[in-house]
Amino acid sequence: MRSQSNSKLAVIGAGAVGTSTAYAALIRGSARHVTLYDINTAKVDAEVLDLAHGSQFTGVADVDGGDDISCVEGADIVVITAGAAQRPGQTRLDLAATNVDILRDLMPQLVAHAPEAVYLLVTNPCDVLTVAAQQISGLPAQRVFSSGTVLDTSRLRWLLAQRAGVARASVHAHIVGEHGDSEFALWSNASIGVTPILDWTRDGELAFTAEQLDEVTEEVRNAAYQVIQGKGATNYAIGLSAARIVEAVLQDQHAVLPVSTVQSGLHGIEGVALSVPSIVSATGAEPVLTTPMSDAEIEQLQASAATLKSSQQALGL
Ligand code: LAC
Repeated sequence: MRSQSNSKLAVIGAGAVGTSTAYAALIRGSARHVTLYDINTAKVDAEVLDLAHGSQFTGVADVDGGDDISCVEGADIVVITAGAAQRPGQTRLDLAATNVDILRDLMPQLVAHAPEAVYLLVTNPCDVLTVAAQQISGLPAQRVFSSGTVLDTSRLRWLLAQRAGVARASVHAHIVGEHGDSEFALWSNASIGVTPILDWTRDGELAFTAEQLDEVTEEVRNAAYQVIQGKGATNYAIGLSAARIVEAVLQDQHAVLPVSTVQSGLHGIEGVALSVPSIVSATGAEPVLTTPMSDAEIEQLQASAATLKSSQQALGL
């Protein structure tokens, strides 16, 4: 593992999410060197130029890239954003099948050029694709994981902070499970500061009822649909989330983040990738097996795993 002073991030895919990830990483100083790869030569060359033209204002990081996959050589972390985006009339499963095929082509090439890297899947459906990428590459589960519910958790904290009238950093709450419709919040351990969330008061009144918390979860589940309806895609928030995870790896932070890893036994869940609070460091991500959950939350996690398992089985994973 390199120190951050010569750390290299490779972003695969120069679409809205890949370029936002590269842009966020440059602005946040997440890596010393950012490389962008895409098969679309004109697009990737233009995006690299556009990012490089602003680099006077982004700190010391260098940016380069192109359509030659050897540009990922020496990467400490590879962030995969490439893949088909959902079109009208396409099911989630159709998207999964297309993107698994892309990974079958891409992963062996990436691993050949960056055998030591940690791999972060951002392409959707990110949980299913994490299982595919891990199986295709044969890399240890800890080195192939996905952004999972890091973004959903940020959405949750933003909503709760607004309603509670506190800073986002003072909200301790997590979305876990699938990055998708079966995700849920771990309310049994959510707090603001050290106050249990249901006990939080604003202007002398309790700020949340259990029903209101369920409505907040629903709002988080629908957040991406809401953004996609208005602008066709989500990109800034997922780019920032990916850059945050990159920092945890490149700085060997051992940060606890709800990323998605292939589970091997947590509450009986095996061979399915989903998010639970996990320790993210230079060696990758490992679930925190002692994360407290109520019996109802364990059931929700198992139901989320069952949903993902049936998608995987339909794909032969
Ligand atoms: C979202 C996409 C990244 O949730 O799935 O915005």
